[in-house]
Amino acid sequence: TILILDFGSQYSHLITRRCRELNVYAELMPCTQKLKELNFKPKGIILSGSPYSVYDDDAPHVDPDVFTLGVPILGICYGLQEMAWQLKGSVSKCDHREYGFAQLQVLSLGESNSVWMSHGDQLSAPPEEFHVIGKTQTAPYAAIAHNSKPWYGIQFHPEVTHSPRGKEVIGRFVLNICKCSASWTMEEFIGKEIARIRQICGTKGRVIGAVSGGVDSTVAAKLMHEAIGDRFHAIMVDNGVLRKDEGKTVYERLNKDLGVNLTLVDASDLFLSRLEGVEDPEQKRKIIGNTFINVFEEEATKIEAAAKEEEKSGKEAKGRVEWLLQGTLYPDVIESISFKGPSATIKTHHNVGGLLKDMKLKLIEPLRELFKDEVRALGRLLSIPPHLVQRHPFPGPGLAIRILGPVTRDQVRILQLADSIYIEEIRKAGLYNQISQAFAVLLPVKAVGVMGDKRTYEQVIALRAVQSEDFMTADWYVFPPEVLRRISSRITNEVAGINRVTYDISSKPPSTVEWL
Ligand code: XMP
Repeated sequence: TILILDFGSQYSHLITRRCRELNVYAELMPCTQKLKELNFKPKGIILSGSPYSVYDDDAPHVDPDVFTLGVPILGICYGLQEMAWQLKGSVSKCDHREYGFAQLQVLSLGESNSVWMSHGDQLSAPPEEFHVIGKTQTAPYAAIAHNSKPWYGIQFHPEVTHSPRGKEVIGRFVLNICKCSASWTMEEFIGKEIARIRQICGTKGRVIGAVSGGVDSTVAAKLMHEAIGDRFHAIMVDNGVLRKDEGKTVYERLNKDLGVNLTLVDASDLFLSRLEGVEDPEQKRKIIGNTFINVFEEEATKIEAAAKEEEKSGKEAKGRVEWLLQGTLYPDVIESISFKGPSATIKTHHNVGGLLKDMKLKLIEPLRELFKDEVRALGRLLSIPPHLVQRHPFPGPGLAIRILGPVTRDQVRILQLADSIYIEEIRKAGLYNQISQAFAVLLPVKAVGVMGDKRTYEQVIALRAVQSEDFMTADWYVFPPEVLRRISSRITNEVAGINRVTYDISSKPPSTVEWL
């Protein structure tokens, strides 16, 4: 394992990703981690970048034990400056913040490479016993190495794709210098994770978990099923604002195709009655989040009651409900381990946190070490059908945040139909996998149209399709015009109540992906 200590850079998780792409397992921890308290011995340590300056009063600093652990160290940007700060080099402010490409002259190779810089401070003198191995026009100590120990510092960011040979730099460090073996593969992960789940869950006791039809919960459910079979019980809540036929489809896929023990609860009446007349998006999110918890708890209680009965009757008891499965992914973990605390919330993306306190369930999170594309790879290996593994994300509050006015059954039906035509045509055109997320939005305005000889006065659908790496930023997708023409014509012809279709050409930022 490579330990990456995070000083709060926006790129820290990318260092983790690059290591894993080299099949080396890497874990990110806050820079405040006490190294004596680690429950594993890392083969190398990488110190990340940071928005701070090492001389700031509140600047984060690493546990000085990092230098006595006897393992290779690589400091990146602030990580380099932190090494200098601890080892008595010196760091000073640049005249201008340097942001963008620079040419790094690699002294030993006599060649220069493009690298990505993003810093306001830089080394003005390396610590004693370090020598220069690379420089740029403005940074005389852009890369340094210790004279005898495997300690390195670089000013540029090898983890971003803008540093074309950055992955080689990380590869040299983790493979050649730390001597990690490139053996972390998804096949190995599955085997280990199933064994880990079996060990945690023993031979008795049930696990419950919510599924939504999305890739994360499906993969987590399938993995649990592989590990403990029928002792895992999945619950799907139909909240009345799912996509067209979603409840039924998910039930068939998970239960019939994948063999997962699944209960589908139709709670649409309850959700829609609580949503009545509500227009405010955050209010909608809150209502859906809370109602979800109520319904899920009620269902869990039923499963627990049945388990108790079974126990009493003494027949082939699978035990009581002891664990709650969550499809938490690594980015959520990273967010919550930050030494600064979670970042500012723009929209409250609900999660099943704090659930079922009374039942004292223990959490089980088999995907907590994985990034989204790793979950997809895992899904493929678990023989989950490709169209499911490649599915676009769908928000928990569902169509409620895509109906811009109050949510009614009628509005839901209109949007479901328009959305299903849109997605069907995207699939037919073979474009689904090029798009990160596509959906229709129902606007709360009416526009005039003409049908036959009659004037119409009906609602408007907005279509959204974006391409994005991580949904923090997104670009609108450029459709071939004939595909848009077909979609528009089908929606206006087949969806009663709609006489106009528009296409959203806004990027994130300044817009967001969803309209609410
Ligand atoms: P925004 O609109 O914030 O969307 O640019 C970024 C990604 O997050 C999804 N999203 C949500 N997911 N609950 C969710 O589970 C929510 O409340 C929520 N709001 C947005 C959105 O679909 C996109 O993928």
